[in-house]
Amino acid sequence: MNVVTPIGQFAARRDVAMDGEHPQVIVADIAGRPRGPARIITVANEKGGVGKSTLAFHLAVALADTGHKVLAVDLDRRQQSLSRALMARGGTAKRLGARLPLPRHLLLQQHSGAHLCQELARAGWDCDYVVIDAAGHDSPIARRAIALADMLVSPVNCSFVDLELLGRFHPVTHKLTGPGCFSVTVAELRAARAEAGMAPLDWLVLLNRKRRETSHNQSRIESALRRLSQRMDFRLGSGLYERVAYRELVLLGLTHLDLHRIPDLGRIKAAAAGEVMQLLDDLDIGQELNGLLSSAGVEQLNPAYSSHLG
Ligand SMILES: Nc1ncnc2c1ncn2[C@@H]1O[C@H](COP(=O)(O)OP(=O)(O)O)[C@@H](O)[C@H]1O
Ligand SMILES: [Mg+2]
Repeated sequence: MNVVTPIGQFAARRDVAMDGEHPQVIVADIAGRPRGPARIITVANEKGGVGKSTLAFHLAVALADTGHKVLAVDLDRRQQSLSRALMARGGTAKRLGARLPLPRHLLLQQHSGAHLCQELARAGWDCDYVVIDAAGHDSPIARRAIALADMLVSPVNCSFVDLELLGRFHPVTHKLTGPGCFSVTVAELRAARAEAGMAPLDWLVLLNRKRRETSHNQSRIESALRRLSQRMDFRLGSGLYERVAYRELVLLGLTHLDLHRIPDLGRIKAAAAGEVMQLLDDLDIGQELNGLLSSAGVEQLNPAYSSHLG
């Protein structure tokens, strides 16, 4: 994986240069603070409404479901979507008398690097994973969450308007003309991390709300993302399809992975459950889960989706 910023390959664009705090200041702020052993997965994209909270929720629950200790951190004090889903999960488990794996959870109250690191060390000291859900805009705390991450996950919707934040494309030819503002932020933070001797940041981008029927627009977006992934050094995940269940289950704090524990609630959609497990595989966590399941005597995953672990 490259550790140098790929931005230099594009013509310099003043309009998308990273403003605000210098990336080196951000990296110095977090690099000097103690942090626990947990792997940090930050779900971030400057665009709102692309499925960050939905993904962070499913990711945190899937990791907890397979026996990992997980801390879920909600950075979005205004919308609190991740917090609400996890609180609903606690309530649903109580009402149904079901044992649902519940990630530890906190809503970050003060948006400072010091507070984020303190909370990660305090609440996540014994955790295997921390999943951070960032709000859909650029902010000092979102940059710190990216600077701290081992893995960055960025969902995008199937629209060139959403893609603009990752890369600029010619409106007619769809030729890649430059980086988008979020890519610039990530690239500059990666460069600052490399300079500070930190490990490279693994970046996974995935399409959310994909359509099942073939669409010209979706094919163009997928082709654009493939080209962009090489320039901006990210991996492309399999993505999630548009499913009503992603909206309805989250309201109850549930995921497809829970339905085998609550058979009265509905049929497991193996494809949907597999989609979430595929996400773990994309993050290179799938193999680890396989070993964990067999060695730790954790409750077996439902065969409907355990096959997706490979
Ligand atoms: N794969 C999906 N299928 C259907 N609806 C989805 C999917 N992913 C997200 N949504 C819906 O899209 C909206 C925005 O998702 P959310 O996770 O809140 O985005 P963000 O955190 O990026 O603002 C919500 O109504 C959510 O239920
Ligand atoms: Mg959100």
